[in-house]
Amino acid sequence: MKSLIDIIDISVEEIEELCSTACDIIAHPEKYREACKYKTLATLFFEPSTRTRLSFESAMLGLGGSVLGFSEASSSSASKGESVADTTKIVSGYADIIAMRHPREGAALVGACSALIPLINAGDGAHAHPTQTLTDLLTLYREKGRFSGLTVAFCGDLKYGRTVHSFIAALSRYENNHIILVSPEELAIPDYIKEEYLSRMSYEEVRDLEDALPRADVLYMTRIQRERFSDPEEYERLKNSYCLTAEKMTRAKETMSILHPLPRVNEISVAVDDDPRAAYFRQAYNGKFIRMALILKLLRENDGERFAVDTTNLTISETPCPNSKCISHNEQELPRYLTRDSHGNVRCLWCETIVTK
Ligand code: NCD
Repeated sequence: MKSLIDIIDISVEEIEELCSTACDIIAHPEKYREACKYKTLATLFFEPSTRTRLSFESAMLGLGGSVLGFSEASSSSASKGESVADTTKIVSGYADIIAMRHPREGAALVGACSALIPLINAGDGAHAHPTQTLTDLLTLYREKGRFSGLTVAFCGDLKYGRTVHSFIAALSRYENNHIILVSPEELAIPDYIKEEYLSRMSYEEVRDLEDALPRADVLYMTRIQRERFSDPEEYERLKNSYCLTAEKMTRAKETMSILHPLPRVNEISVAVDDDPRAAYFRQAYNGKFIRMALILKLLRENDGERFAVDTTNLTISETPCPNSKCISHNEQELPRYLTRDSHGNVRCLWCETIVTK
């Protein structure tokens, strides 16, 4: 693996390997204390973050490496109009590996194509967030001991929730998982996730959390993401759609695990935190160790070859991508590549939005 853009870039065997390395690091951190000595991680965060950025930094420091970077676009040359492609090319001369977060969908793929070193997608707009998914998978591994045969309910902002999109993609590769999607109609899961991943599993869409609670083995709560709404009134109308309370938890299985990528706003009552089924703080803790395992793997497997997309079956679109949040609207001279998926849909290569069915 040269770079990690999407969770499906990693095989199920590699996921097992990463989880078992992470568990070994948790048990024997001293063995890894110098594993990345003289290596540098660049954290390029064009969008705010607490857990993801700090867990990446803490991961690299725990491996004996060093860290540089920025935590907001305004403190980088992006504020002067520098492209993502130029930024990652430049940073390749200063670091050995990049973790990048960007508000535009497809930005990670663009960044990886021009970087000369491995790049990890730490979230690209509402598109994908594969290291959160690795964190979520490690949490399942430690809480449930398996990735299959689970009923997983996703609740909240399923439209813009990139962590939801990546986690569903990951779960679709395991047997016998059942997905319950709980959201207001306005925040329903995007079509491309349905066609590409949910079609391989059994799933249902419901409006009420109470419908899903008694059946779920895992409840994945999410925040309604104010920053992704173009209409502030719509956010105001939807922001209090769900709240998990201690009273509602009486309807859930005794063995259910509650996950949340965090930050939480008001969708989980603080009173739930003391419930042993609340796994979200343990989940945040796991994030550091799975990122340590990932950094080790990418640095070990890096053969100096550049990450590239295979352009043989791609066509070029005459018109701009219909997704206004796609990186292709911002990057100078980025080819508007189109790809055809396994269902025959034509999609933007960068943000994966379906252009024609
Ligand atoms: C999530 C994200 O950034 O997409 N948080 C995270 O990575 N821990 C979810 C969110 O911001 O609500």
